[in-house]
Amino acid sequence: MEAIILAGGFGTRLAPLTYTRAKPLLPILNKPMITYLIDSLPKEIDKVVLAVNYRKDQIEKYFKENDVGREIVVNEEPKPLGTGGAVKFAEKHITGTFVVLNSDIISSLNLKEMIGFHRRVNAVATISLWPVDNVSEFGVVEIKEDSRITSFIEKPKPEEAPSNLINAGAYCLEPFVLDYIDTGRLVSMEQEIFPRLIEDTKAFYGYRISEYWVDVGRIESYLKVNRLLLDHNGREYVVGERSEIKGRIKYSSLGCNVFVDEHSIVESSIVFDNVRVEKNAVVLNSVVGEGCVIKKGARVVNCVVGDDEVVEENAVVENTKVWTKPLPEGYPKRQVGNVIKK
Ligand code: GDD
Ligand code: MG
Repeated sequence: MEAIILAGGFGTRLAPLTYTRAKPLLPILNKPMITYLIDSLPKEIDKVVLAVNYRKDQIEKYFKENDVGREIVVNEEPKPLGTGGAVKFAEKHITGTFVVLNSDIISSLNLKEMIGFHRRVNAVATISLWPVDNVSEFGVVEIKEDSRITSFIEKPKPEEAPSNLINAGAYCLEPFVLDYIDTGRLVSMEQEIFPRLIEDTKAFYGYRISEYWVDVGRIESYLKVNRLLLDHNGREYVVGERSEIKGRIKYSSLGCNVFVDEHSIVESSIVFDNVRVEKNAVVLNSVVGEGCVIKKGARVVNCVVGDDEVVEENAVVENTKVWTKPLPEGYPKRQVGNVIKK
C-alpha cells in the first residue's frame, strides 16, 4: 500500500525559515517534521511517494542520507500542481487503496484504524477531521450521524462554515478518485475534487482524530507543536550534539553545535544548528535559524530569525521577522498552497 505525502509548496507562512529550507525538513525536537508522519504510517504502507517541487534537492538528500525503513520515492512535479494535481501526478505509483497526507500536520491520528474504518464503510474517500474555533483557515465539513460528509467548503467565511469540524489533512482514497483529477494542471483537492465527490453522491466519509492535532503551517503553531511534543515526551528541553549550554534553557529545542553563553536565557523557542547566543542575551518565544548569532545583551522576543542573521549587541527585536538578504529567486510574495489564485 502506498502513501503520498504532499510536501510541495513554499511554506510562505513560515518565512523566512522557508526561504532556505523545505518546509517538511523544519526540525521539531531536532527531527525533520516529515519523519513524524513517516513514523506514524502503519506497516502495510511499504512505499512512500513524496510529492515535491520547491527545494526538492534538500528533501532528496535527506532521504538518501537517512534510512527511514521504507521505500521512498521522490516524485517531482515540473511545476506546482496543487494538492489534487500532485496526487494525480503520483498516479503511476498507486496500486490500490492509498493514503494522502499533508506534510505540515503533527497529530495523534491512528492511520491503521482510519484505513480500517474506510474499508468497513466501503468508502471512496475518507478524510480525517478535527474540531477548531478558527474554521476560516481550513476546509470545513458538514457531516451526518453515520459519518458521511455532505458538504465540504475550503476556507469559508465564519458565517458560511457548516460546522466546527475541519479537514485534518490525512485521506484514505480509492484509485477511483484519481479519475476525477485532470492531468497536468493545477487542481485543488479541497476546492474541486471533494465537492465534486459529494455532488456525485460518492461514499465520502469523515474520521475524527481524538487526542491532539496541530497544523504546523504558521510560526505560532510551529512553536506550539514543539512545546506539545516536549511535554508529551516529559522533557523540559532538548539539545543536539556538540552543543554547549551555560545559560538557562526552558521549554525549548536546540539543535547541534549551539552555544548559549552565561546569563543568557532561551525560553519557549526553537534554535536551529550552529547558533551562538552570547552573554546576557534573551531568546523568548522565537525561532532562530541556522548559523545565527544573537550578540551580547540582545533581546529576541516573538521573532523568527532567518538563517545566518546577526542580531546586534543589546538590540531589542520584538514581534518581527528578521531577514536582511534578498528574497530567493522564484519565491512567491504570498501564499500559493492549495488556494488557486483568482
Ligand atoms: N506537491 C505539492 N504540490 N504539494 C503541495 C502543493 C503543490 O502544488 N501545494 C500545497 N502542497 C502541500 C503543502 O506542502 C501541504 O503539505 C499540503 O499540500 C496542504 O497545503 P497548504 O498550503 O499547507 O494548505 P492549507 O494549510 O492552507 O490547507 C490545507 O490543510 C488544512 C489542514 O491543515 C487544506 O487541506 C485544508 O482543507 C485543511 O483544513
Ligand atoms: Mg497547511
